[in-house]
Amino acid sequence: MKSSRDVALTDLEPGVEQMRDEVVDGLMQRRKTISSKYFYDLRGSQLFDRICELDEYYPTRTELGIMRDSIDEIAELTGPSCLLIEFGSGSSLKTRILLDHLKEVAAYVPVDISKAHLLASAKEVNADYPTLEVLPVCADFTAQFEVPECDRPIEKRLLYFPGSTIGNLQPDKAVDLLRNAVETCGPDGGMLIGVDLKKDAAILERAYDDAAGVTAAFNKNVLVRLNRELGADFDVDQFQHEAIYNDEKGRIEMHLRSRRAQVVRVGGTEISFEAGETIHTENSHKYSISEFAALASAAGFTVDRVWTDAKRWFSVQYLSVD
Ligand code: AVJ
Repeated sequence: MKSSRDVALTDLEPGVEQMRDEVVDGLMQRRKTISSKYFYDLRGSQLFDRICELDEYYPTRTELGIMRDSIDEIAELTGPSCLLIEFGSGSSLKTRILLDHLKEVAAYVPVDISKAHLLASAKEVNADYPTLEVLPVCADFTAQFEVPECDRPIEKRLLYFPGSTIGNLQPDKAVDLLRNAVETCGPDGGMLIGVDLKKDAAILERAYDDAAGVTAAFNKNVLVRLNRELGADFDVDQFQHEAIYNDEKGRIEMHLRSRRAQVVRVGGTEISFEAGETIHTENSHKYSISEFAALASAAGFTVDRVWTDAKRWFSVQYLSVD
């Protein structure tokens, strides 16, 4: 039996220089942006886990329900001896349903940008599934990376991408990621993906602006992180959390709105804000089943199966390589 020390990390964490260049570049645009991938420092990952437990935030519990209800069919479709690769594994909560029900998982490769969180979760999985080989990779999964070799023989690669994290990407970038996924899975591979569906804007806006203010704290935490890691001097209280549904683009947008005119220094660059100007920190695209099928097909996947909840708020989809 293995001990939890056997979890060997593949470390492709983006460096602080890359973060500084990307963040400064985004803040110098006419429409200021910070990539949502920078939410996930340790504190950000913890706040995200709290969001997942909020009444207003329906995606997590809805997706978990679909997974539990459909797991026999999922196991049937995916078959035995998969190499299970997960993008944005976070706390690996939903993964456990797969680990409990898929036949002879060959190894588990959690991929996440948040190193501390990834390592902690990988160790927990390793402790709870002592015979499973766990091969964590700290990486930005929107870039291509080498999948580590595992000990056991594998039938196929199964890419698991839950949480509708695909929605954080603009549709053209989502197709790029799915194209990379086709490469990662190989010809016999498949992808199990969580995709949030279009619904009433009021439900969506509540889900991204909860009464307890956890999402607001999550959004503002990115500024706290930049202060700490880049020596920036954001006065966090001078920014206000905002979540609005952009109907034309079919997405929730999160912004941080400057309460007044102010100048902030980030990585040696002065960034000026007008009163009311925003930093766009996240998109969360919502798709119809047919819109998502078009993205999958543009990337070289076929949608083999779609499972939804009774309200059709969320979907879990199995895609195979054409
Ligand atoms: C990371 C895609 C699961 O867009 O719903 C939750 C992140 N942002 N509340 C989403 C998020 C605000 C989330 N995902």
